[in-house]
Amino acid sequence: MKGLLLRSVGAIRRKWAYLRARSEFTCLGHQWVVREGVVNPSLISASRQFAQKALQAMPPQAKSALELGTGCGMTAVLLALRGLKVTAVDISLPALENAAENAQRNGVRLDLILSDWDAKIPTTQQFDYVVANPPYLRHSSDPAFTAGTQLEQVLACLNAVRNRLAAEGRALLMSSSWSGRDLVLQHIATAGLRVVNTDRKFCGNEWIYLDLCEAE
Ligand SMILES: C[S@@+](CC[C@H](N)C(=O)[O-])C[C@H]1O[C@@H](n2cnc3c(N)ncnc32)[C@H](O)[C@@H]1O
Repeated sequence: MKGLLLRSVGAIRRKWAYLRARSEFTCLGHQWVVREGVVNPSLISASRQFAQKALQAMPPQAKSALELGTGCGMTAVLLALRGLKVTAVDISLPALENAAENAQRNGVRLDLILSDWDAKIPTTQQFDYVVANPPYLRHSSDPAFTAGTQLEQVLACLNAVRNRLAAEGRALLMSSSWSGRDLVLQHIATAGLRVVNTDRKFCGNEWIYLDLCEAE
């Protein structure tokens, strides 16, 4: 029994190490580098679906965007390539440095802020479009994916989304069936947001939900 447990823990550790290895890849027509220790969209199809949906759902009149939890910066860079002035936030310094590298590779500028959600964004700053793929697992050995038993990080992220959403702005939130749909919907409502449209896609071993929201 103990041997089985140790083998399972070892397998999970190896899986995380694999998911977080450095790589270079092309996605959505652009080239990206992902450093070791940063969430890698070339290995996680949900991240690629999120980036693609963020482009599709971009409000036509939007001039500014905020990505909360940008990771390697792929979604933020793609929005900047569409002409938006983009601010990208992460709590991880390696992630932000990686986002800077991807912005440079793709010839765009991002305003990068090391912050716990919106804590370090100037108080009055709001955005026409806010996108977030926050941590969505209740338990994980990886802080980039750990949302807490009551999805506390999802709620904290949604409160930041609501704070920073300009009047008439739109927000895109990604979540997973692993989070538990009912609690995510409860947190969306608690944060003062309303879902206007949902895309649900099957991604290997989870359903992902791409909720387009506006302020209540
Ligand atoms: C699921 S990953 C998504 C990364 C990237 N946006 C993507 O779609 O691949 C969540 C990201 O949120 C960041 N994050 C976690 N907690 C955060 C917090 N309190 N404030 C800001 N960013 C946070 C993690 O470092 C990680 O980069």
